[in-house]
This record gives sequence, structure tokens and C-alpha cells, in this order.
Amino acid sequence: MMAGSTVENLSNPEMSDGDWAPTNLRKNLCILSRNEIDLAKMLIKEKQGHLFEHWPEPGIDDAAKHGFFNQVTLLNNSYPGGLLSYIRNARSLLADSKAGKNPYDGFIPSVPSGEVLSFGDENFMMLEEVGVKEACRAAFVLVAGGLGERLGYNGIKLALPSESTSGTLFLQHYIESILALQDASCKLVEGSCQRQIPLVIMTSDDTHSRTLKLLESNAYFGMSSSQVILLKQEKVACLADNDASLALDPNDKYKIQTKPHGHGDVHALLYSSGLLNEWCKLGLKWVLFFQDTNGLLFKAIPASLGVSATKSYHVNSLAVPRKAKEAIGGITRLSHADGRTMVINVEYNQLDPLLRATGHPDGDVNDETGYSPFPGNINQLILELSPYMDELQKTNGAIAEFVNPKYKDSTKTSFKSSTRLECMMQDYPKTLPPTASVGFTVMDTWLAYAPVKNNPKDAAKVPKGNPHHSATTGEMAIYRANSLILRKAGGHIEDPKLEVYNGQEVEVWPRVAWKPKWAITFADVKRKVRSCRISQRSTFVLKGPNIFIEDLFLDGALIVNSVEDAEVKLNGHVKNEGWEIRAVDYKDCSLAEEVRIRGFQIEKKGQLELNYNEPGNFSFNG
Ligand code: UTP
Repeated sequence: MMAGSTVENLSNPEMSDGDWAPTNLRKNLCILSRNEIDLAKMLIKEKQGHLFEHWPEPGIDDAAKHGFFNQVTLLNNSYPGGLLSYIRNARSLLADSKAGKNPYDGFIPSVPSGEVLSFGDENFMMLEEVGVKEACRAAFVLVAGGLGERLGYNGIKLALPSESTSGTLFLQHYIESILALQDASCKLVEGSCQRQIPLVIMTSDDTHSRTLKLLESNAYFGMSSSQVILLKQEKVACLADNDASLALDPNDKYKIQTKPHGHGDVHALLYSSGLLNEWCKLGLKWVLFFQDTNGLLFKAIPASLGVSATKSYHVNSLAVPRKAKEAIGGITRLSHADGRTMVINVEYNQLDPLLRATGHPDGDVNDETGYSPFPGNINQLILELSPYMDELQKTNGAIAEFVNPKYKDSTKTSFKSSTRLECMMQDYPKTLPPTASVGFTVMDTWLAYAPVKNNPKDAAKVPKGNPHHSATTGEMAIYRANSLILRKAGGHIEDPKLEVYNGQEVEVWPRVAWKPKWAITFADVKRKVRSCRISQRSTFVLKGPNIFIEDLFLDGALIVNSVEDAEVKLNGHVKNEGWEIRAVDYKDCSLAEEVRIRGFQIEKKGQLELNYNEPGNFSFNG
């Protein structure tokens, strides 16, 4: 799908009679097409003759030989500059890696400027309002092509419930959030607003068909199917040695082994798809990139988009406060004596040595705030469309790559297993001119970031005080955020209890969950909550847009469903047996994997469910 390269014209006279080809390939030239021969010449010129060493006489395995070239064509077309560029880039990066070259040599790090927001204050609410207005000129891009090896879940991560109280799946939550933003934005902007916010999902061979099935079997979770665009990233060729010899698949000698290239592919895919031009013509201004399992993200989106708009940021990286040396990249300004400068994510294991090498003998340390001055990158980006398009026109969407071979020993001459080039979405600013306006927006971690990345076993091993980033903590973080938001809006929410699930100590707050259409900003919550008291053992689920909490005391489970035009006022006491959280053992195979990986399940002992299925004004008095 990306702009491919044409194969270099290699048909010089010495090469025309097949002398260029090693014996086994030469014998097979008679069965190959003109295009296949050109590809073969390119491979031979790039020292890839080993790929043909095992080829038998023509007539044997011919279909597989053509299959080999089909794959080479795909690899050639899906990499900016083609396979030739891939091999040459690999050779150069492998040489740098062998020489131990630091990509940041000569750069001086400093703290960039950005916005630090305080949840719920006037500035925050003003920015949320600006963000909501801008939302109808935005497109969302979800990168969801990853293998999720660390989580080890058998399905795709987007199909996991973000929390088990309402059972809302990650993809469903994202779509419902975008739809809620769309509604809110169109109401504010009127007339000039596009009606449908596009959602692009980048998939890969590992996730594509299951993502499509998830959408189709759930009627796109309420989105119009034309609003959702799936772009599939291709894998890249594996490299067997420092000379960038392409690795053959151990299970199929007519196939080059491939592995994922990383989420940085999203830029080249967007560029080659033509979508950016389309969006530009539609009058869109922003592109928001996000990841597959962060159930909190949309609480941070309106204000962050507001920052992009008010600060005119071409690039806005969402960030959270970061303790020095915490295992999360730091957003850093890097300046070189030759004039190069960039604001970029620097991985934590590179930041400390870089600081030490450039006049900061203590390296990465906390300042008087108790945090590192370099904010923690959470890899959610907001780009302004027009400068983004200008930049991609220059680069064709290619993103700075890196290689991370696992060497057999200190001679660095051979690898434990094949490697490949990789690229990261957040490295986009690396090629920007110094005039580009690149900033960040820092939000509280409890509000903005709780990804589900680690399996229970690994999560339990995370040292105390560091985030587990598991299904257990991802879910508990949603209840905590909702409880804290209600508190900030004036609600009396009982303190959490500490519990241990799957070996991880977590705060268990009341299980408060709401659909994005109930509230997409803090102002929405404030407008809808006058007074409430909620006990720690309670569950409170709000599934309608116009539910107003006037004066409610809840000690148990209350679920409220209401249609668009029903206005519901909640008053009085609700007390019942409620929904209990019961710990489960993740090794208990009789349970669903979604349950096991969080280490608890919800036992519904008693609840009050209120349903308002008709338009009108309703008042509940418990
Ligand atoms: P992660 O760093 O969490 O990687 O990706 P992952 O592949 O999902 O999980 P591990 O590392 O194997 O455990 C961050 C985001 O980038 C997407 C993921 O789907 C996730 O949303 N991603 C990652 C891609 O879209 N493509 C890739 O090649 C890699």
C-alpha cells in the first residue's frame, strides 16, 4: 500500500546473459518473468544470492518460486524506497549498532516547553471547550497492528473489555467516545461542522481479520461503516547477519522470514492511502493518534486538543509526570552544535547516560516537584494536518528507523535470532525543521494513562511503586478516575480499599462507569452532578445522555439506562446487596481468559436497574 520503488535498471551488457546469476538461479531464469528477473538482479546486486542456493532445476517447485517473487514484490512495494532501500538502510544501521554508535551523539538535551494541566480548574475546562469545538475538524488514528506478546492474550487487545462492570470493549469505548465528541462538537459549532469524525485503524496480518470481524459483528458499535477505515501494515524482511542478508523462513525455504516493522508505519500508510489529502479537502485540521488499550485516554483528549489549538502546536505529545529513571521515555529537546534541533521522545535507558555525558553528573534526577523535568511520553500524538502533510511530502512517510539485534557474544558478529528494522510513531518529529512548533501536554497519570500491556505473571513481578500496566490495573484505573472526577464535581465518594488480584496490590474504588455520551468533558460531569454519596462497595453505571444526579445516596448497585430524549433525575437512597468483586486464580482454566487475566470477577448479588425507554421527563426518588 505504501509507495513502492521501481527496481533499479540493472540490465547492463555484462549482466544480460545471465552471468550475474548464481548457478541455481541461472538455470531457472527461463521460467521467470521480466519483472521477476529484475527483482532477482536487484537481490543479487545487494548480495542476497543465498536466497536461491537451494533452488532445484526448473520444473520442480516452480509455483513456490513464483510465490517467492510475489512476496518480494510485496516487500518491495510496501517499504518507502523499496527493498533495495530497506537492505541498504539495514546495512548502515547494523554497522552503527555493531560500532556501538549512539544516535544522539553530539546532541545536548534540555527540557522542552509545553503545557502542564491541572484537572478540573478553569483553564482545564476552557481548554476542554476549545477541544470539543475543534473535534469536528479532527480525524482519529488507532494503531492496532501489534502482536501484544507481553500480554499474551489469545484474542486481539481491542476486543478485551476495558472494564467488566459495564463490559464495554476497548474498541467499543473508543468508538463511543468519538461519537460522543462528534455530537458534542457539532452542537457547539453548528452549520460549518463535518458530521462524521473519521476513524482509521491500522491493523496487521496478526490483527486485521479479527478487527474487521469485531466491527462487523457489532454493527461498528454505532458508527457508520464508511466512517471507519482499516489500513493494514505489512511486515518487513528479517535480517540474518550484519551484512543484512535476508533471512529465509525456517518453515518455508521459498519465503523470506518477516516480522512487524513497528507502529511508525502509520505515517507512510496514511500518506500513501491518500486520506490526508481527502481530509484536507474536507477542511479537517487535526490528526489524533492513539493506542489499543488505554481506557483513560479520552478523558484527556478534549483538553489536549484544546492545547494544540490554543498553542498552535504542529505536534503535541500527550505526557504524564515521570519519576526520574522510571521506565517510560522522556520528552526532550535535543540540540546539536551543527544547528539540528528536535523535541523528541528519548527512551529512559538513553536519557540518563545522555544527561551524564553532557554536563549533568547526576543524570536523570527529580527536581523540586519530586518528578523528572522530562515529562513521560504516553505515545498519543496530536498533529496539525497541514504541516503534517508538508512533512510527509518530503519524506514519503518514512520514519527514522532503528535495529535492535540480540548478539550471540561481545564480538557482535552473529545474532541469537534474526532481527529487522523497526520504526516508532513518536519518532515522527525527528525530521521536522527547527521552526516546527512541537510541544507537549502533561496530565495526571490517574486521568490519562493506564494501558493494558503485561500478563499477570510479569505484572506481579513489577517492583512496588511502578505501574503494573495489566488488565487488573487498567480496569481499576477507570473506576479510580471516574470516582476522582465525581469527587472533583462535588460528590462524596468513599475512600478505596486495598486488595490484591493476580499478585498486584490495587486500590479498589466504587465501580463507577459511564458511557461517553453521559459525559465527555469535566464540564458535562459538573453539569449533571449536584450531590451524591457513594460507598466503596457500590457499583454505579450511567448509560444515557441526560441523567442528572440531584441528591443520591448509593450503597449497592445502581444501573441507569435511558434513551436520547429521556431526562432523568436521580434522588434518594438506593441500598441493596450490590455487585461484589471476587478474586480468581489466573491459572484457573475453567474461567474465560478475559476474566483470568484480571484476577477477579464480578458477582451480581443484587441491584436496582432503572430503564427509561421513552422520551420524557422522569424523576426517581429512592
Ligand atoms: P506496543 O508497544 O504495546 O506493542 O504497541 P504490541 O506489539 O502491541 O505489544 P508487545 O510489545 O508485543 O507486547 C503500542 C501500540 O502500537 C501498536 C499496538 O497495537 C499498540 O496499539 N502497534 C505496535 C502497531 O500498530 N504496529 C506494530 O507493528 C507494533
